[in-house]
Amino acid sequence: MNMEQLILSLPKAELHLHIEGTFEPELMFIIAKRNNIKLKYKSVEELKKAYKFNNLQDFLDIYYEGCNALLHEQDFYDLTYAYFTKAYEQNIVHAEIMFAPQTHTNRGVSFETVIAGIYRAQADANKNYNISSKLIISFLRHLDEEAAFEVFEQAKPFRGLIDAIGLDSSELNHPPAKFKHIFREARKNGFFITAHAGEEGPPEYIWEAINILKADRIDHGNRCLENEELVKYLADNQIPLTICPLSNLKLKVVDDLKKHPLKEMLDKGLFININSDDPAYFGGYLNKNYIELQKHLNLTESEIIILAKNSIKASMLTEDEKNFHLSNF
Ligand code: HPA
Ligand code: ZN
Repeated sequence: MNMEQLILSLPKAELHLHIEGTFEPELMFIIAKRNNIKLKYKSVEELKKAYKFNNLQDFLDIYYEGCNALLHEQDFYDLTYAYFTKAYEQNIVHAEIMFAPQTHTNRGVSFETVIAGIYRAQADANKNYNISSKLIISFLRHLDEEAAFEVFEQAKPFRGLIDAIGLDSSELNHPPAKFKHIFREARKNGFFITAHAGEEGPPEYIWEAINILKADRIDHGNRCLENEELVKYLADNQIPLTICPLSNLKLKVVDDLKKHPLKEMLDKGLFININSDDPAYFGGYLNKNYIELQKHLNLTESEIIILAKNSIKASMLTEDEKNFHLSNF
């Protein structure tokens, strides 16, 4: 079996995926047209040409623009179900999906519209593709904590559909500590906690995510490598880091996949797994992330298997569910 076949054949979980970041240009134009929304770009080709980013903020500006096309429950269903179809083709058996309610409620779309469409797609994917999934609300960190409390309030009637609370958007100058109170509330309510930290922000933000937000899992976390004590803590406590190689390349967190720190992270005993982040914008879905990294870092078969197993182990699934998936390796 060659490496590509191996990567395809392994059962995998995806744990760092923004559903709004799976919005393919073709679908964006279809939905914008049926909603009578004029996009900033005239064609799919023109839009794709704009996908050149120098940093996280460059990307976020275009990504929020694309979200403007999404208005109705069916739009959120179509977006989410399209992701699950890709996931099925890649042998993803479990997905933990983030959505950012504020991106939509701030445009006048109700929380219920968004979650109803996403949930219906999750249920259909479970039935048609046998993919299980969890849902993560991600607060926008460039907005204030009060706004996060408002989302939390809107989410209350849908508690049973939501598994975790996360934190994303512009990292620099928006440290995790800014959201100390709302994450305390989220924890009290039994949510699993994730937070983006150490993508562009310093190691100190990772410490804050752990010590102040009490994060169960860190999204990205690349910059932990600048702090030996932090690496030791993350390794000793086996805190999962969701690594996103093509995202790191496209947002210039690394300037070449050959210099991606994933292998160094594995060698240091960090509990890492591979994810696609915003695949419609970063040039590939989950398997492409594995394949490109394997090629550029010369990862071995056993390293690939460890990464895929880690994705299952770092998920929110129960021990029995994890053991079931791990028995298929
Ligand atoms: N980082 C921060 N915010 C985001 C990302 C990311 O990688 N993707 C979507 N929102
Ligand atoms: Zn992300």
